Amino acid sequence: MKKLTFRDGDKIPAIGLGTWKSDPGKVGDAVSAALETGYRHIDCAAIYGNEAEIGEALQKSYSDLGISRKDVWLTSKLWNREHKREDVIPALKQTLSDLQTDYLDLYLIHWPVAFRPDLEGFPRSDDDYLPLSEVPLTETWDAMLEAKKQGLIRHAGVSNFSIKKLKELIRHLGEDPEMNQVELHPYLQQKELLKFCKEKGILLTSYSPLGSGDRPERLKKEGEPTLLDNEVILSIAEKQEATPAQVLIQWAVARGTCVIPKSTNPGRIDENFNSKEVDLDEEDMEQIESLDIHFRYLDGTVFETESEMYRDIFDEG
Ligand code: A2P
Repeated sequence: MKKLTFRDGDKIPAIGLGTWKSDPGKVGDAVSAALETGYRHIDCAAIYGNEAEIGEALQKSYSDLGISRKDVWLTSKLWNREHKREDVIPALKQTLSDLQTDYLDLYLIHWPVAFRPDLEGFPRSDDDYLPLSEVPLTETWDAMLEAKKQGLIRHAGVSNFSIKKLKELIRHLGEDPEMNQVELHPYLQQKELLKFCKEKGILLTSYSPLGSGDRPERLKKEGEPTLLDNEVILSIAEKQEATPAQVLIQWAVARGTCVIPKSTNPGRIDENFNSKEVDLDEEDMEQIESLDIHFRYLDGTVFETESEMYRDIFDEG
């Protein structure tokens, strides 16, 4: 399995199992199946509401497979409600307890958006948010670095950050983010962000690599393009004797990113992992490059406010 190297030389397996939308009752079996297949990277988040079940499955798999905690890369994410300095480490400790571990390999600020600490569920009005002037991203970042200093996390990063927002943290005294996890697939190739992150020694993880077809309906747009039945992807899959999902996963790996396809189906979990056998050539890469239409499946509008407080979350102008 290809690995990506952090600034300190640490290595993360390029393919991880995504767990967003993996329902309680299914996610544990998915994690067990993935570890049995050979995955050693599981991508989690507190807001997915399934970390306790993942923690149970990890324990069982460690003993069933004769592996230990240190053999598996665990990533999780800080939810929007816990951005205040004093809330970061308690939120992290809840995740550690749910995942039944005493450290994470990587912890990310999930979104550059802060909710009120007492908010239950998702915001219903602007009053449910805290402006970044009140809880600056630099404050949250400081607390992430404190967690690292305390040995609760081995690496710290962010998710859904634009170049502009990364620059705010990079200018800040202390350590720069080590990872940015963003939506990335052939329709949204993130070329500028990828270039910027490479220059700064920040790794990228590609989420929704298969087009996230199981998103809730409210997050879907009418007539949105699909990736798994794109003609170019289908023809490359045929040529490579691979499946469309395997082509999409290996395209992300070939571009030097981590990729976290979600599945709760054992056959597809296996298929996605075995994409490592697929070797895309230059012509395949060129053809896929032509597919960029700058289309987001998750456009961030779900976190926009009526007022100017949170608008244009990806700073696209
Ligand atoms: P399932 O969990 O039933 O396998 P993304 O990773 O972009 O969020 O996409 C996840 C969606 O893609 C889920 O609906 C998942 O369904 C589906 N999926 C995962 N792997 C494959 C595959 N190899 N072929 C087709 N669909 C897949």
